[in-house]
Amino acid sequence: MSDPVIQCQQLSKSYQEAGSQVSVLKGVNLSLEQGDTLSIVGSSGSGKSTLLHILGTLDGATDGCLKIKGVEVEKLSRAKQADFRNRHMGFIYQFHHLLMDFSALENVAMPLLIAGKTKAEAKKEAADMLDKVGLGHRASHRPSELSGGERQRVAIARALVTKPSLVLADEPTGNLDKHNALKIYELLNELNKEFDTSFVVVTHDLELAEKLGRVVQLDDGVLVEYQGADGVRHA
Ligand SMILES: Nc1ncnc2c1ncn2[C@@H]1O[C@H](COP(=O)(O)OP(=O)(O)OP(=O)(O)O)[C@@H](O)[C@H]1O
Ligand SMILES: [Mg+2]
Repeated sequence: MSDPVIQCQQLSKSYQEAGSQVSVLKGVNLSLEQGDTLSIVGSSGSGKSTLLHILGTLDGATDGCLKIKGVEVEKLSRAKQADFRNRHMGFIYQFHHLLMDFSALENVAMPLLIAGKTKAEAKKEAADMLDKVGLGHRASHRPSELSGGERQRVAIARALVTKPSLVLADEPTGNLDKHNALKIYELLNELNKEFDTSFVVVTHDLELAEKLGRVVQLDDGVLVEYQGADGVRHA
């Protein structure tokens, strides 16, 4: 049995602000098996992005234990964390964060070049991934020449191109209309089935969250199982 893709216990995060301490996460427990997907909902300011950043090793927890694929990532040096991210994780943001001076193909090829692939290999694999997200015919276009939904699909291709175990997405459809948002969720489900990638998706939209399977809610600094509009039960 392989290690769970995410295991965290009693993860906490507080910020010092003007001399007083603000506790955002107060003991988050979570276990996610490889290939499982998870949506995180919660009110604005409840700590969803904070949690996602910590899971992605982009920020450190104040206390608690975090393992990604069995590795205590917080104990790695910054250089090793960056290498770990490049090998095992992908990120998708609300605003695509594509490089505007580069084509769709070059944007998607970037993580492969960083991982040390040759230009020819990177281009081929990037082209294949653009095909998967239905944008093979747009490979040479720059982000400014693409629609919002198309840019987001390029960003998804970029997150998936290294075949990461885990993709973390923060409001990936927050910037899209319902129709395009639904298409993105269908695509995430397809990619999950094809590559066994685990997705953790933060969203405000419960209807979309439920399309990905398990939904948890950040509530007063802890994760609880979401049970629909009538209430929550502690996980
Ligand atoms: N660097 C920081 N310093 C101090 N406080 C911070 C910092 N980053 C976040 N916070 C606080 O932590 C809390 C959680 O923020 P976070 O961005 O994780 O919320 P969120 O659930 O993602 O909200 P939204 O749905 O609006 O994106 C907020 O009260 C925020 O003000
Ligand atoms: Mg946020």
